[in-house]
Amino acid sequence: MTQDRLYFFDTTLRDGEQAPGCSMTAAEKLQMARTLENLGVDILEAGFAAASDGDFEAIRTIASEVRGPSVASLSRSRKEDIVRAAQAVETGSKPRIHIFLASSDIHLEYKLKISRAEALEQAGSSVRLARQYVDYVEFSPEDSTRTDLDFLCEMVKVAIEAGATTINLPDTVGYAVPNEYGAMFRTVLAKVPGADKVILSAHTHDDLGLATANALAAIEAGARQVECTINGIGERAGNAALEEIAAALHVRKDKYPVEHGIQLEKLYPASQQLGQTISFGPSPNKAIVGANAFAHEAGIHQHGVLSNPLTYEIITPSAVGVPSNRMVLGKHSGRAALKARLKDLGYVLGPEDIEETYHAFTALADRKKAVYDQDLINLVAHHQRHA
Ligand code: KIV
Ligand code: ZN
Repeated sequence: MTQDRLYFFDTTLRDGEQAPGCSMTAAEKLQMARTLENLGVDILEAGFAAASDGDFEAIRTIASEVRGPSVASLSRSRKEDIVRAAQAVETGSKPRIHIFLASSDIHLEYKLKISRAEALEQAGSSVRLARQYVDYVEFSPEDSTRTDLDFLCEMVKVAIEAGATTINLPDTVGYAVPNEYGAMFRTVLAKVPGADKVILSAHTHDDLGLATANALAAIEAGARQVECTINGIGERAGNAALEEIAAALHVRKDKYPVEHGIQLEKLYPASQQLGQTISFGPSPNKAIVGANAFAHEAGIHQHGVLSNPLTYEIITPSAVGVPSNRMVLGKHSGRAALKARLKDLGYVLGPEDIEETYHAFTALADRKKAVYDQDLINLVAHHQRHA
């Protein structure tokens, strides 16, 4: 893989917002958009202009006020949607229209009820129309990963000839596995004239828990834009999580020598802000930003991390904006973590006292799920009274 620029396309405010429990007011969207700008995203998909007047206004406000990233609106492959999207983004610094049109037979037959030939015609005419309004037009053959590959290549060719500047190949239903998703990008690059002159983009969903792995496979195969959301929110099981892709690129620079604009230390604050804006935060075991992502309870792990964090941490918490790692005291914890916590609480105990307090602590931890600082203070006080 060559060293070059990877563009982060954030769709927290569009695909993310479409998920249950994730809707935001226009004011909340604007606040989140400012945070995403600050985080360093290149393209910000602010909504779907034709979906509602509220979404239209939110996109328009974001396009006028957030000047760093290119602001995009999603659009169906229809004249009235394209015109609405163009009006929504027109005040933006690098306005983009993102057109999607189903390409798989199942979507063409049951959803759109049109033939492949009609779909090709629509793809060409809608991209041409959008190019009359903006310089940046992204085209997505929806359900690419369940589309006949020859037909997918035909549709991509038509879109490029019509003036698309980015071709996004979405795994709409989270069906692909990484080697297959990567192979699809390689085929499009090899077979479609001009595919090497546009930006190829990966858009992955997490129905099989493979969204991040698929995005990385696409990067390896030549994709230079990834579409993702904060905390991985999005339709059904969600989209690829921005923080996971960015952290993977950082930890595995050896495998992915690409440059990008994401400022890693701003990931955790962005994740927290989103969690406080919508109706749920990341699950505790969520990679990178979950409450347990840098927490250690098992004694062997705690001892290792206290000696050298690299034993059980592949990235420092501060690198992604997490204030610090956490030693959780429970029945799996060892003497090293207990001693360290007691020291933080102001108790420096000798080896014998530590031993006795440790036994009292494990007995308590067997009875309780978690042991808190006040429990430790009580244990030490009890031990001192009876010493
Ligand atoms: O998952 C999908 O296919 C989409 C498109 C609109 C790009 O979100
Ligand atoms: Zn999607």
